[in-house]
Amino acid sequence: MIARKSYALSLVVLLLVCGLLQAQPTQSIGHETEAEKAKRMQWFTDARFGMFIHWGLYALPARHEWVKNRERLTNEAYQKYFDNFNPDLFEPQKWARAAKAAGMKYAVLTSKHHEGFCLFDSKYTDYKSTNTGAKRDLVKEFVEAFRAEGLKVGFYYSLLDWHHPDYTIDKNHPQRMAQKGDTAAYYAQVNKGKDMAKYRAYMRNQLTELLTRYGKIDILWADFSFPSKDGFGKGKDDWGSVELLKLIRKLQPGIIVNNRLNLEEYTDGGDFVTPEQVKPAELTKYKGKSWETCQTFSGSWGYYRDETTWKSNKQLLNLLITSVANGGNLILNVGPTARGEFDHRAISALDSLSYWMHANSKSIYNCTYAPEEYKEPEGIEARLTYNAAEKKLYLHLFDYPASGTLSLPGYKDKIRYARLLNDDSEIFYKPADTGDALQLQLPKVKPPFEVPVIELDLK
Ligand code: GLC
Repeated sequence: MIARKSYALSLVVLLLVCGLLQAQPTQSIGHETEAEKAKRMQWFTDARFGMFIHWGLYALPARHEWVKNRERLTNEAYQKYFDNFNPDLFEPQKWARAAKAAGMKYAVLTSKHHEGFCLFDSKYTDYKSTNTGAKRDLVKEFVEAFRAEGLKVGFYYSLLDWHHPDYTIDKNHPQRMAQKGDTAAYYAQVNKGKDMAKYRAYMRNQLTELLTRYGKIDILWADFSFPSKDGFGKGKDDWGSVELLKLIRKLQPGIIVNNRLNLEEYTDGGDFVTPEQVKPAELTKYKGKSWETCQTFSGSWGYYRDETTWKSNKQLLNLLITSVANGGNLILNVGPTARGEFDHRAISALDSLSYWMHANSKSIYNCTYAPEEYKEPEGIEARLTYNAAEKKLYLHLFDYPASGTLSLPGYKDKIRYARLLNDDSEIFYKPADTGDALQLQLPKVKPPFEVPVIELDLK
């Protein structure tokens, strides 16, 4: 009995130690100090809000960017999308203006997604926009348009490639094994003659093109790794991730790189973590790290005509505000149509964000989570953000108190001035009769914003 207990105990200790070792990598690839990293990341941390753009051939089937995989389409079956790609309404200046109006400070475009199609004029493939009805380098036009609006620009680059002849078929490939069975034999047979070393060289060549031809690139978003014990996934050795990251940093020393190269064992294997499509409540987990949550307006990244579960303005604001309230960024995705436009649903979602950001963006930019001593008020749903340099707290009201009175426990003697952020109108406040609360007297009529914000100047 005792022996069994101590065995169980040592097992627990071992698991804990493994967990800790995993959580705290010690090796590094480069030599950057924490302070140097913070400086490199500064604009990103201040910006808080960006636009993701997933655009590729999958906009034509218009039923998810993984359509080739989901429907197990062969290259031949997928070819019709290449043959019919002709984005006659592509005007990236319009995209850039919409992003800027919505308050986004950077944009990341899929230069190549898992389907393998390149939106740029790569020397290393024919599977590119210049050989379609588009007849031009779309990445170049994207970069120029967004830069002209003063936004930072980044590239998404898919590590997966369902078109390249040397990319081996794995468990995420459209031509993966259909049924459980003799797995190893199946993959050995379908991958005969394929050479991942050639694919690694292809990626290096393409990333070199992307990082040398278009001026300063602010972000690289590599996607994604799926290492697996059975050997039918892919991870750092398949991509040559360490060498790839060194190359990326050599070509663009200031660049910010996401964490999907499977380099978790290195302290500098990625600059920020990327919680994908998580609920706002989960974002508290990331406090203290560098992070960016990536989210769609609806369920899919690529344009999906018949998808109807679009997030409401309140849900989108919740994601943005809750990200900042936990010290992170939000990158919100648009999937343009095959004609090259944002569809009316995306435009109206962006418009509603513009309306809110125009009046309230001070509670987003340069902000982070509030110091521990300031708590969210009880009884109503609210979220705090904080601008340390300005010594301002921003209280976001997801519910609006019917009485107009709002009690803030612990805030007595801490506040110098209070106002509504959207119009700078004064908010009266007084200490509560007992205790350490401060009582705010809000306007009886809710200000015309889904989530009104109160700005509190701290003493
Ligand atoms: C996933 C999906 C992909 C999407 C990405 C964005 O990894 O494979 O379609 O581009 O997430 O985060």
